[in-house]
Amino acid sequence: MDDGDRHRQSRLVTDDDGAFDAERAQEESLPIEDGEVIDTSELADHQCYVEGRGVYDERNRVNDLTGREWKYATKSVIDEGYPPDVQHDLRSEHGGQKPPRLCAELIGRFSKAGDTVLDPFAGVGGTLLGASFCEHEGTGLREAIGFERNERWVDLYEEVLERENEERRARGEPPLAEQELQCGDCADLIDGIEDDSVDLLLTDVPYWHMDELEQTRNEHETRESKLGAFDGDDEEEADTSANGDGSGTKAEWLEDMAAKFDRFADAVTPEGHVVVFIGDMYREQSYEFLSAELARAIESTAPLTLAANLVWYDPTKDLHVYGYPFSFVPSMVHQNVLVFRLEDE
Ligand SMILES: C[S@@+](CC[C@H](N)C(=O)[O-])C[C@H]1O[C@@H](n2cnc3c(N)ncnc32)[C@H](O)[C@@H]1O
Repeated sequence: MDDGDRHRQSRLVTDDDGAFDAERAQEESLPIEDGEVIDTSELADHQCYVEGRGVYDERNRVNDLTGREWKYATKSVIDEGYPPDVQHDLRSEHGGQKPPRLCAELIGRFSKAGDTVLDPFAGVGGTLLGASFCEHEGTGLREAIGFERNERWVDLYEEVLERENEERRARGEPPLAEQELQCGDCADLIDGIEDDSVDLLLTDVPYWHMDELEQTRNEHETRESKLGAFDGDDEEEADTSANGDGSGTKAEWLEDMAAKFDRFADAVTPEGHVVVFIGDMYREQSYEFLSAELARAIESTAPLTLAANLVWYDPTKDLHVYGYPFSFVPSMVHQNVLVFRLEDE
């Protein structure tokens, strides 16, 4: 494109004041990046222009994002309240479920189309559904494998997928791909995964007293999520606690998680990522900085290095008043997302 062409393109997309209208240019799929019309003939051999998305660098080994999308994806805060969709009522029976579209967003940041994603603590399948969303609302389908030891959640994932796909078909939309959710203990099932075969491990770890909270929730048949939140009224229930193996202190839970991630790391490709949701908690009048403690425990045991702590801030979360007017107890409206990469050998 010579200067004349560039000028003509700019003139075509001016706003009412005659200035260059980048938004309109983007809508009309002109090659623009950061508001500038790109001279595509000047792109390097490893660069190509992706219509409406910007310049993609073919050397990108992390994801399928263009430069502009990559820049946005490095934002350390994900400021998004995801709507209660994808059979939310069914999935909320779990209580610790994650929004599938948030999982899809993270999968898009840390994997490429066709990659393999593993969730060893899959619950009702937020990660698996997210991997399937990538086919229709991202850069392409990822194959996802999940492990979940509670059969109830495995059955629920299948029901969610079936109902969601019925609704999608009725709306004329293509169905979400079914992913593989294996029922059993991740400590055993991981042996069925080949070394260096997983590009992204995305998971949401069980808390050291999670089983007990789940049980309480089920008994009370309440949909209020208490997991991972600062819930003053959790304290009594949380006292005796249960980690992945049904018992234990926080130290034991950390040790158990670190050992599990050490084993999981074998399955991850050298260029892969391990991404872990973890909320901090408030117990017995003190802040449990679980995200920091878990990161340190994993780093000191597994061959993984912490690359980032992203914060998922959910602006739709209700604020609760626990300590008023005597003591400051924060209302947790965020969760941490620890991002690890494999240590260089
Ligand atoms: C925080 S939840 C995950 C929720 C999930 N992100 C979702 O969207 O539904 C953690 C899950 O790990 C499961 N779990 C705990 N220990 C496990 C183990 N050793 N093997 C497999 N699953 C386990 C629990 O039953 C629980 O459903």
